[in-house]
Amino acid sequence: MIDISTTIAGVKLETCVFNASGPKDETLPDLNIIAKSKSSAVMMKSCTVDPREGNPHPRYVDLQYGTFNSMGLPNLGYKSYVKFSKIIDEKYQKPVIASICGMTIEDNIKIFRAFNDTPVKFIELNPGSPNTIGKPIIGYDTKAMDKLLNAVSMVSKKPFGVKLPPYFDLVHFEEMAKVIKKYPVKFVTCVNAFGNALVIDYKKEQVLIKPKGGLGGLGGSYIKYNSLANVRKFYQLFENKIEVIGVGGVYTGIDAFEYILAGASAVQVGSAYMQKGPPVFKKIQDELTKIMKSKSYEKISAFRGKLKTLD
Ligand code: DHB
Repeated sequence: MIDISTTIAGVKLETCVFNASGPKDETLPDLNIIAKSKSSAVMMKSCTVDPREGNPHPRYVDLQYGTFNSMGLPNLGYKSYVKFSKIIDEKYQKPVIASICGMTIEDNIKIFRAFNDTPVKFIELNPGSPNTIGKPIIGYDTKAMDKLLNAVSMVSKKPFGVKLPPYFDLVHFEEMAKVIKKYPVKFVTCVNAFGNALVIDYKKEQVLIKPKGGLGGLGGSYIKYNSLANVRKFYQLFENKIEVIGVGGVYTGIDAFEYILAGASAVQVGSAYMQKGPPVFKKIQDELTKIMKSKSYEKISAFRGKLKTLD
């Protein structure tokens, strides 16, 4: 029997494959669909204190190998997700996860406090959508991250982790890991959409989306190799004390296998869920199980992080 279960923040998940925050997880009907799917958890849309409509349309496009968007954090406000977490928890035997993306430290404190009294099993702090106009990505500012983590650590009664933007310079991994290690952060999720990409329609000589002059977040297979490197670096820097969740271009069992080999304890499915819908979770899980069977791995810990190098 092949076991693809995992544990994140002390919470057992039936499989290591669940939905990423963002795609189709904003409303209660959206969350019911995820709860009924094979996603091993129900991750909710990143929420702010007040409801937000998000950026002007068009703000999302499917690309051949991924997705491109500047949604601008449309969400119903944290009070709705507090309510939804209770409804979903009562109806399904599946961990519900909150994603918090407050606009200020005070907002984040308020939202974390509100989730203390909910059945959410853990929280993913999202310190920076690349698409919030006028707001820098906190994940690129170690001092701001330090302050934010300090603040939420003081108030959160739930285990929490942090969703990180992609880093490209080895020094940045070390600096961010050092800050994160100061706090009771249980996991990091690597990585958020690559911010401020530009996709062009050459025939029309025009951008594809309206916000920010056409700049938006890139997701899917385009970002997989950098995302794998981010998983690998944080896995090495955290030495099994902080779990790593991989996200970015997980469409197949091979993608999931590669993330786990790089050090991920779980993978999230974002673009692929947006494009393929609920059946994608079972597809990835079945394919991963098949690969493990062919390699005689009975559980993911048998190969997690065990990527071979050439030296
Ligand atoms: C949005 C995009 C992100 O990458 C994120 O982390 C949060 C929100 C958005 O545009 O809605």
